[in-house]
Amino acid sequence: MKHFLSITFIVVALFSLRATAQERTTKYIPSPEPDRIVLNLNGDPATSMAVTWRTDTTVMESLAQITVNLPTIFLADSATTVAGTWQDAEGDGVTGRFHSVRFTGLTPGTTYAYRVGSVPDASEWFTFKTAETGAAPLTFLYFGDSQIGSKSLYARVIRQAFRSTPDAALMLFAGDLVDGGSGRTLHNDEWGDWHAAAGFITSVLPVLATPGNHEFYDPADREKRDLNRYWRAGFTLPENGPAGLEETAYTVDYQGVRFIIINSDKMIRNEAIARAQTEWVEGLLRNNPCNWTVAMFHHPVFSTSARRDNKVIRENLKPLFDMYGVDLVLTGHDHTYARGMIMPEGREMRGNEAGPVYVVSVSGSKQYQQDAKQWWQVGLTNTQLWQVVTVDGTRLKYSAYDASGKLADQFMLTRMKNGRKMMSVPAAVKTK
Ligand SMILES: [Fe+2]
Ligand SMILES: [Fe+2]
Repeated sequence: MKHFLSITFIVVALFSLRATAQERTTKYIPSPEPDRIVLNLNGDPATSMAVTWRTDTTVMESLAQITVNLPTIFLADSATTVAGTWQDAEGDGVTGRFHSVRFTGLTPGTTYAYRVGSVPDASEWFTFKTAETGAAPLTFLYFGDSQIGSKSLYARVIRQAFRSTPDAALMLFAGDLVDGGSGRTLHNDEWGDWHAAAGFITSVLPVLATPGNHEFYDPADREKRDLNRYWRAGFTLPENGPAGLEETAYTVDYQGVRFIIINSDKMIRNEAIARAQTEWVEGLLRNNPCNWTVAMFHHPVFSTSARRDNKVIRENLKPLFDMYGVDLVLTGHDHTYARGMIMPEGREMRGNEAGPVYVVSVSGSKQYQQDAKQWWQVGLTNTQLWQVVTVDGTRLKYSAYDASGKLADQFMLTRMKNGRKMMSVPAAVKTK
């Protein structure tokens, strides 16, 4: 018995040693069956689409099938098989294999059916629609930080947004999708929660996302700022921005709207990267064939908290937004809601004339108070929200909804023949 006890003790001791040397184990274990299936715009959205998914490491090929969405049950007969690439991301006690496929040569304005993986472990057939060529009416969704407790409280927000906006073509995420993520750690549980909240929604509506400070944040070394290893594995976002910022700063033109996605964490922390991004943004604004322009990044140009001012962002980007008349600037980070129109430097607001509109929003459960000098016309605290933007010819309509589905803010921008923009706000919206 004594002998048995000492062996047990040694085994337990060795196991504990191993457990402390390893990272904690995630509750989201990969299997041969695809999960975390996410669409990303990548290339011309009228003719291409990218999909990323996860399996375990027994899956040795990255295959997806695509066909026009026909009424027949024999979709596989008309489908084309497309091969992609994979990369492994190890952490939290598991290795996830992330597969990435790009569908190209698609027909504009067409609904496709696709599935990922191979039978018997293939996913269900999902559908998505390619963009029209050139300008056409467009509706998209925008979400501020989900960050903490995605599965518990953010889930109802993205689900209600999807249910309420059947014509949405894409979704924008302004960073801090998760709370703790850096090059060192994977935070697989948090990404698992983020995907569990969205379910199939990210498999049918393409995602444009930019990392927030929390996708760079290393709790053990605050100065170390490496992009969370999950980011480039888990998404297949565009790589058409400044060198070194692949999949975090990029641009997409979608039906007459130019989306400029900026990596604000790197802009704040590195002067050379700030310069490179600013020059890149200016180039995109100077040669802009689109009627409408939306910029999205994490750190607000104007904060809702006196202690959270982002001077570098404001100094680099605001003059460009003013000069080139950027329409919407969508951000997160401050865990509160604020929407304000700020006229270009030296210009008074005349009547209903509009300048760039700045928004800070939050979709998740982490909430802060507002204590900055008030620059916003509508502000909310302790409120989870999502936003719907519809662009149609000379009109842009913006609506923010709270988690109960109630309209929280709304305005319309109208572009006049003389190039000026006018703003109108419905009487139901309570401005400050
Ligand atoms: Fe943040
Ligand atoms: Fe945040």
